[in-house]
Amino acid sequence: MNICVIGTGYVGLVSGTCFSDTGNQVTCVDLDQRKVDMLKNGEIPIYEPGLKELVEKNVKAGRLTFTTNLTDGMKEAEVIFVAVGTPPKENGEADLQYIEAVASQIGEQLNDYKVIVTKSTVPVGTGQKIKDIIKSKTNVEFDVASNPEFLREGSAIYDTQNMERAVIGVESKKAEELLTKLHEPFQTEVVVTNIETAEMIKYASNAFLATKISFINEIANICEQVNADVTEVARGMGLDSRIGSKFLQAGIGYGGSCFPKDTRAIIKIAEQVGYDFKVVRNVEEVNNDQRYRMVEKLKQALGSLEGKKIAVIGLAFKPNTDDMRDAPSIDIIREIKKLGGEVVAFDPVASDNAKKVIEGLVTAADIYDTISEADAVLILTEWKEVQQIDLAKVKKVVKEPIIIDGRNVFSLDAMEQYGFYYDSIGRKTVDFR
Ligand code: UDX
Repeated sequence: MNICVIGTGYVGLVSGTCFSDTGNQVTCVDLDQRKVDMLKNGEIPIYEPGLKELVEKNVKAGRLTFTTNLTDGMKEAEVIFVAVGTPPKENGEADLQYIEAVASQIGEQLNDYKVIVTKSTVPVGTGQKIKDIIKSKTNVEFDVASNPEFLREGSAIYDTQNMERAVIGVESKKAEELLTKLHEPFQTEVVVTNIETAEMIKYASNAFLATKISFINEIANICEQVNADVTEVARGMGLDSRIGSKFLQAGIGYGGSCFPKDTRAIIKIAEQVGYDFKVVRNVEEVNNDQRYRMVEKLKQALGSLEGKKIAVIGLAFKPNTDDMRDAPSIDIIREIKKLGGEVVAFDPVASDNAKKVIEGLVTAADIYDTISEADAVLILTEWKEVQQIDLAKVKKVVKEPIIIDGRNVFSLDAMEQYGFYYDSIGRKTVDFR
């Protein structure tokens, strides 16, 4: 099949590449000349394990091309995926200006029947809006559809190639057939429904996962007070298949480009129809508070933070990405600095991006340089570099053997063995100094 993907961000680039890998002819279109030039040269504008190799393979096979020219990109395509950004507006609503601009252009260029599919996460009703915009520009026959994306950064290729379901929101048999056929190679369960339902499935899924995280974080906060261990609680809960073991890791709360944005957006969607989405409003509040608990833990260990060297290990909102969008580390570091602490940070890949959003951030290239002479080590991302750290060496180079662990990376036994003060999430604070 001939496919056009508009927008080469995470979603567009990964799905375009994976669709080409299953034998389709894919043209990825992006306005950004620099991005397109990079991609043509085999460079990938984002950090995503495995993506470079897969792009290379399919470019070489002649199935994957990049262009800034929408007219060329969509001319031969039967299916057009729209995967441009929907950034949040000041009030939390999704900003649809890029989607609307693309819809107008598609309408102006439409030369024969095509299915125009939104892959971006868009408010319920956007599919119809796109249809109206395109209709106002052309008499050529077309269908709109919704095919939300559920990939995670850091495992985007795996998630796409092994998708647990494909959601297809359609209004015609023709669009259903084309999109179902496109998903056949993925051998996955296909949920065919109407467009509004497909749009809602995406928000409901992300809001539910965010709820799971805030729920376990609150359980963790209670565990700390009642001598219970949240990792064991999560294990005990997760074995019940109705609950499931995933997304029950207590920590510093969620960040990234999806959960914060999508929870805010679904609250807005509800608000606009006069409904107060209480659960998700509280999920957000809990998530925000959870970040500041890290600073409280530091204060508990150190007293005043004034003039103290805090070594922050991990800046990205999760491992295997350089994405700093809404990373909890941003608020946490700002707060530590506000309280007079000196921060030196380490992240295997996100340091450059972090410097763009955290003013005056000092980073070090090596984990042991970062923690050298530190009054406390603060773990914010569970990178494998952290999991593999040499604790004996840590003990030697820090000024005070204090670890505040926002990701529950270490066992209490290891902390006892090496002699640390160790405060993690939802487990008892231990002091083996
Ligand atoms: C998420 C969804 O998983 C994906 O389906 C959707 O398409 C986009 O949003 P992503 O943001 O890439 O993907 O990351 P994910 O792995 O889901 O983690 C999101 C955040 O939740 C991270 O900050 C992570 O640290 C946090 N998290 C996740 C927890 O704190 N605990 C958990 O148990 C799981």
